[in-house]
Amino acid sequence: MANLLVLGTQWGDEGKGKIVDLLTPAFDVVARYQGGHNAGHTVYVRGTKVVLHLIPSGILHPGTLCVIGNGLVISPAAFFKETSDLGSQGVRVDPSRVAVSRSAHLIMPWHPLLERVSEELRGEKKIGTTCRGIGPAYEDKAARFGVRAGDLLDLRVLREKIAENVTAKNRVFGKFGLPPLDVESIYREYKGWAEKLGPYLRDVSELLHERMKRGENVLFEGAQGTLLDVDHGTYPYVTSSNSTAGGASTGLGVGPKAIHGVLGITKAYTTRVGGGPFPTELHDERGKTIAARGDEFGATTGRPRRCGWFDAVAVRTACRINGVDRIALTKPDVLSGTGEIPVCTGYRYKREILKSFPTESWVLDEVVPEYRTLPGWPESLHGAADFDALPRAFVDYLRVLEDLVETRVAVVSTGVERGQTVLVEPELRDFVDLTRVRAGRAA
Ligand code: IMP
Repeated sequence: MANLLVLGTQWGDEGKGKIVDLLTPAFDVVARYQGGHNAGHTVYVRGTKVVLHLIPSGILHPGTLCVIGNGLVISPAAFFKETSDLGSQGVRVDPSRVAVSRSAHLIMPWHPLLERVSEELRGEKKIGTTCRGIGPAYEDKAARFGVRAGDLLDLRVLREKIAENVTAKNRVFGKFGLPPLDVESIYREYKGWAEKLGPYLRDVSELLHERMKRGENVLFEGAQGTLLDVDHGTYPYVTSSNSTAGGASTGLGVGPKAIHGVLGITKAYTTRVGGGPFPTELHDERGKTIAARGDEFGATTGRPRRCGWFDAVAVRTACRINGVDRIALTKPDVLSGTGEIPVCTGYRYKREILKSFPTESWVLDEVVPEYRTLPGWPESLHGAADFDALPRAFVDYLRVLEDLVETRVAVVSTGVERGQTVLVEPELRDFVDLTRVRAGRAA
């Protein structure tokens, strides 16, 4: 038995959805552990685009159980919209396929409203959030004001918690000239959700424990990326949850020893959506070319992503924080034929060269990246599936990245479809049953 954790090593949008979908045939359960419908995992199946926000990417494989952990914040409206969108694409979502933790927190109508106020108050220093109410829902969780999914199971408790919150929140709304919220209409809405969401609610920790005891394999799926982690990312320009490896344990109620391997998803260049420091960001035509070729637009908000060169300082640090065993390198095909490719190897800060990612975002604002320039390759990589057929210059590039981040590459993604992937056998074999992955890829 081997359980694998798949997470992003940059600022999100590394292509986790495709890799999770590709590896799912080797697992019985796919479990998400943090975030909410701020995430956007895009998966292509036989030319059809499927965008997932809340439901784990494993849902596209009929035999897989998908689990939504206590570490998430859930908007019931977003959950059922996604369920119905998937239904219209022929993907069945019901309580036999999806389990939601009773301890997950709910996004309530006041959360997106409070987020707008807080972003406005920050002025030029706004985070550039997805405005889905994610941050305020986690704030209420930490403040012990949160409404949890399990509270839907007792309508008396639900009404009491809504009333408590509305009283407190209306005081804030009054100060900002916003209309007050009404307890009864919110209660009626959430009573409706209680009926619909009730059958999905489970003790997820217990469920996973039982499945693992039976010898089933679990794939733990991270959302966002390491540099957006509330503790280890570019604080305060981060999301409000732990997207790093430790989050899988707290966000699902599984012990750390249940995680047998960590696969870090890493884009061959860097992107970021929203505000905050980004040392290798390109402000010229080359950045625009990468954005256009890589179709770098947010899957959730449609915002253009900021683009820049590969940052080995950031990825090496992400590998350390998460204990990454192997990397899945995505989108190198975007760099084909773009000429020489600079890779950031260190940061100059005042008189020092930093080899580790600084923990203060105000230091990051001032660092100057040190680059090593690699030759690049003219050949297209698009759709390549065989390691031996990859151009020499690309393999050299890959080896340099591996040395810089001190981690081996096990997967190279060369396009959006499942088949457009190089599986680097010796590197992957310890973590997944390749026979099952190959069978799924061919299906
Ligand atoms: P929030 O998660 O909506 O609070 O946004 C906080 C920051 O995380 C913003 O910069 C968002 O753009 C970013 N963010 C949140 N989810 C994702 C994601 O799935 N991909 C990339 N960036 C994200």
